[in-house]
Amino acid sequence: MNFDTIIRGGTIATASDTFSCDVGISGGKITALGADLGNAGEIVDASGLLVLPGGIDSHVHIAQPSGPGIVMADDFASATRSAAFGGNTMVLPFAMQQKGESLREVVKQYHAKADGQCYVDVSFHLIIADATDSVLGQELPALVNDGYTSFKVFMTYEGLALSDMEMLKVMSVARETGALVMVHAENYDAIRFLTDRLEQAGKTGTKYHGVSRPIAVEREATHRAISLAELIDVPIMIVHVSNREAMDEIARARRRGLKIYGETCPQYLMLTEQDLDGLNMEGAKYVCSPPPRDKASQAACWEGLQQGIFSLFSSDHCPFKYDDPQGKLLPKGKTSFRWVPNGIPGIETRLPILFSEGVSKGRITLNEFVALTATNHAKTYGLYPKKGTIAVGCDADIAIWDPKRQETISQKLMHGGCDYTPYEGIAVTGWPVSTMVRGQFVVRDGKLTGKLGAGDYIAREKSELAKPSAAV
Ligand code: URP
Ligand code: ZN
Ligand code: ZN
Repeated sequence: MNFDTIIRGGTIATASDTFSCDVGISGGKITALGADLGNAGEIVDASGLLVLPGGIDSHVHIAQPSGPGIVMADDFASATRSAAFGGNTMVLPFAMQQKGESLREVVKQYHAKADGQCYVDVSFHLIIADATDSVLGQELPALVNDGYTSFKVFMTYEGLALSDMEMLKVMSVARETGALVMVHAENYDAIRFLTDRLEQAGKTGTKYHGVSRPIAVEREATHRAISLAELIDVPIMIVHVSNREAMDEIARARRRGLKIYGETCPQYLMLTEQDLDGLNMEGAKYVCSPPPRDKASQAACWEGLQQGIFSLFSSDHCPFKYDDPQGKLLPKGKTSFRWVPNGIPGIETRLPILFSEGVSKGRITLNEFVALTATNHAKTYGLYPKKGTIAVGCDADIAIWDPKRQETISQKLMHGGCDYTPYEGIAVTGWPVSTMVRGQFVVRDGKLTGKLGAGDYIAREKSELAKPSAAV
């Protein structure tokens, strides 16, 4: 058998096994795994390196409208370039509906932004902001059939928050169509009440962002979302969980047999509320929701990853430049934390952080790393086994890692559109050196080799994990 490429001499890890053999690639697919596969158009020497499934980042925001005067720092070209340098071969951004918009139109707009502009593969989740009868009855079921098999709902944010009635209606459509609902769980009214009170007391600095969204706000919404899902027997994914109390709601629901899944993100392992404090709006660099908490919450999130309460580790990449009046230094943001654009960059640093803090420091195994960063994302969102593992027949989406390489995370090393990284100065051991999408190198030995437009749009299947517990 003649291969296009053979990756030779590396140690391969999947979510279940670690082994050494050649990886034979033809036509963009993995076509053989075995000892000494012979010849190929190209032999890639991976001696001393790890050969892992490319990361799938299933929670990223790219080129998303973010409010008057605010512009996101990444378009599809810069975000997917940055993703590739961070060891990712696929990302799942959102196509966000705004009030009054047709979902189908929104999807078309996002395709227009992404088509020909991606270095790695992409697929879209939907964000439902306007749960009208025509959206619920027509657009949503048709879009699920077309491969948009997951949608996010918000329990907070002006213009996005759904009422409980609307949440129930969206969840019912998910149950009927086999889609998976992702929930941003924070109590909107409670946040508004606390924000008003803080502002009246003159407490408007960025450090009060965290005070306006305490753990109880997240815990209550998590509990409510789970209860609503239980009422109609539909699985849900609680995204970006930041603390033990919200995590315990998920764990308790799972013990009761409910299909409730959880995701956490690097900011909840690496940052704290103290980062939100700082002179000259420095704290704005860390404003995201839910906010970073404290050291005990970080420890809880590690436990959640170790115990499988969180099956996904995503970046929630949502980049705004810092030194930019259309970004974190929006003039209105200086009058109150309420107006500071919410979100931080992380698409390029997600994997090195989890590898270093998790695998290199012995908190998780290499196989757990693969599951949390690639395989579980593919399984959760209808991409498996095409994506997310290394096996014969899968897309040759591969990241080659140097497990010993030491780097210090710095904006100088980043390849996206943002002008800062919240993880500046963090020393890591383990670094992705090359990234291959469907058999073609996008990044090779630290250099961009992929062509803009090489990343494809991938329509998704319905996820096994989205099946309700009981038959209809
Ligand atoms: O602050 C955040 N997380 N911004 C991104 C939007 C979201 O809620 O995921
Ligand atoms: Zn969210
Ligand atoms: Zn998000």
